[in-house]
Amino acid sequence: MSIVPDEAHPAGPTGRVAAASGTLAEPQVRAMFDRIARVYDVMNSVMTAGQHHRWRQRAVDLAAVGPGSKLLDVATGTGDLAIEAAGRVGPTGEVVASDFSEAMLAGARRKQTPIPISFEWGNALDLGHETGSFDAATVGFGARNFSDLDQGLREMTRVVRPGGRVVVLEITTPSRPPLSTFYEAWFDRLVPLLGRFDEAYTYLPASVKRFPGPHELAARMHAAGLDPVRYVLTAGGIIAIHVGEKPGSAVDDGSARGGGDVREDPAEPEGSA
Ligand SMILES: C[S@@+](CC[C@H](N)C(=O)[O-])C[C@H]1O[C@@H](n2cnc3c(N)ncnc32)[C@H](O)[C@@H]1O
Repeated sequence: MSIVPDEAHPAGPTGRVAAASGTLAEPQVRAMFDRIARVYDVMNSVMTAGQHHRWRQRAVDLAAVGPGSKLLDVATGTGDLAIEAAGRVGPTGEVVASDFSEAMLAGARRKQTPIPISFEWGNALDLGHETGSFDAATVGFGARNFSDLDQGLREMTRVVRPGGRVVVLEITTPSRPPLSTFYEAWFDRLVPLLGRFDEAYTYLPASVKRFPGPHELAARMHAAGLDPVRYVLTAGGIIAIHVGEKPGSAVDDGSARGGGDVREDPAEPEGSA
């Protein structure tokens, strides 16, 4: 991880203040991910004890895609969620994965993928894809970084076909011990220590706190045009996976292609909006 002096930060000292509030403007978000791209995967594995792969699998389960499906993963970063999806849609399907950080995309393009994935530059708030052109749209740990969450949700909803799904995988704040206690120690004390090296790690816990809780996020997805919206909390309530369906009758509802319906985890709380 590089230690970058304040003068080199596009946002300057105000960037640190903004990072601590968990809100950054788009150019700052992009610059931050460009900066941390090389260490992103390692930090992800360290901070989640390698669990993030399971959460991505679960998110793709909820997207209900199967062989032949077409999926868009926005804010794809280094591409792990897109790669998981590629394994499900197979050679007859298609995965498009976009991000606005070229450095993160470069990391994605270096990876082995089960089928070729089209990794492209794209802003999640203004997707250059036609309305109704995907069976599912996903975002993993990216929605928290959108400068306009509602616009991002509307865009994801727009590009999926009627009957298609929008899935949002995000970190959330657990409300019950023992996870809430562990989470406070980890997120409020340990991760911010890394903020000495890069403000990204000051921003991370602050942005999680600022992000809507599961019920509110479900309501915002509903307002974006998805109905029904459901969510699953996993990892003891630290991870929320929301799934919403775009109403309307599907020309081809995709269910014949496999993927299955929403799988619920009865051991963990679930909600809906
Ligand atoms: C925490 S990373 C998540 C990457 C990946 N989805 C994953 O699951 O690991 C957040 C990503 O969102 C991207 N991002 C944030 N806002 C974006 C936007 N408006 N358009 C495109 N990408 C965006 C960042 O560039 C970064 O790569």
